[in-house]
Amino acid sequence: MTAHDYEYALEIVDLTIDVDKHGERVPAVKGLTIRVRPGESHGLVGESGSGKSLTLRAVMGLFSKGAHYRSGLIRICGHEVLGPDAPNYDSSMRGKGVSMVFQEPAVALNPIMKVGWQIVDALREQEHLSRAAARSRAIELMTSVGITNPEDRFDSYPFELSGGMRQRVMIAAAIACKPKVLLCDEPTTALDVTIQRQILDIFRSVADSGTALLYVTHDLAVVSQLCETLSVIYHGSIVEDGTLRDVFDTPQDDYTRQLLSSTPYLKGAMRAATNTGAIDDKTSEKGD
Ligand SMILES: Nc1ncnc2c1ncn2[C@@H]1O[C@H](COP(=O)(O)OP(=O)(O)O)[C@@H](O)[C@H]1O
Ligand SMILES: [Mg+2]
Repeated sequence: MTAHDYEYALEIVDLTIDVDKHGERVPAVKGLTIRVRPGESHGLVGESGSGKSLTLRAVMGLFSKGAHYRSGLIRICGHEVLGPDAPNYDSSMRGKGVSMVFQEPAVALNPIMKVGWQIVDALREQEHLSRAAARSRAIELMTSVGITNPEDRFDSYPFELSGGMRQRVMIAAAIACKPKVLLCDEPTTALDVTIQRQILDIFRSVADSGTALLYVTHDLAVVSQLCETLSVIYHGSIVEDGTLRDVFDTPQDDYTRQLLSSTPYLKGAMRAATNTGAIDDKTSEKGD
């Protein structure tokens, strides 16, 4: 707790979110609690429809039609953004406090604006930079997320880039203000394995720089490559949480065991990694 006056960069405590279903309001996220420390990378794993996106969007204060906050609270760096004291969501932490990488770049990127200027926009929203300073900072950011020839790509439109490049642009915009918390909603699902690994490396270095990551996926293999801790969500409730090693080696819950057995190669890989200490070494790269 030395460098911060809070222990957790992100706290979600006993969060319940209702959704409209067949004319009724029913809970879809049920008393969910997740805490993530600065620099920690936490996986939220569960099947489709289990409430992962609703949870992340609540942290950003994005409730689409049919989704309603009921109870619980969310704090970013100790500051309540949703809860009894902030029932309508306090957006003051967006940008420098919390930002989000969506599954589909199409949701986050403006199709008719050059990508470089979209990153500049994200920067200038929070930091008072001149246009020229913002442009050169955007080019630095593009380089840091592995965009080659950033000077040329700066003036590309989203449709002129590959899916992997668009995803990198979105990540660059999301990390532009060095958020304390970065939320990722299955951001590599549509990408091939090589690009996925490169993108995971970017997230790992974002966490290494002190950002707390909450990384949503249905894929345990991704969690094993990126995260130190995880929560397993089932029908809106957390059924298990802990360190990667604890959950993978001694799962307590039936659903977790089922998830693990549906990715059979994982346990052996994990055991090998924990025995050699490789999973504590964030820079370690799995072979091709
Ligand atoms: N805006 C909404 N209106 C009605 N139902 C919703 C809404 N958003 C999500 N849901 C429902 O809530 C459940 C959880 O959704 P979601 O969080 O998107 O799941 P996941 O991201 O884990 O796949 C699903 O049954 C989904 O149909
Ligand atoms: Mg989802």
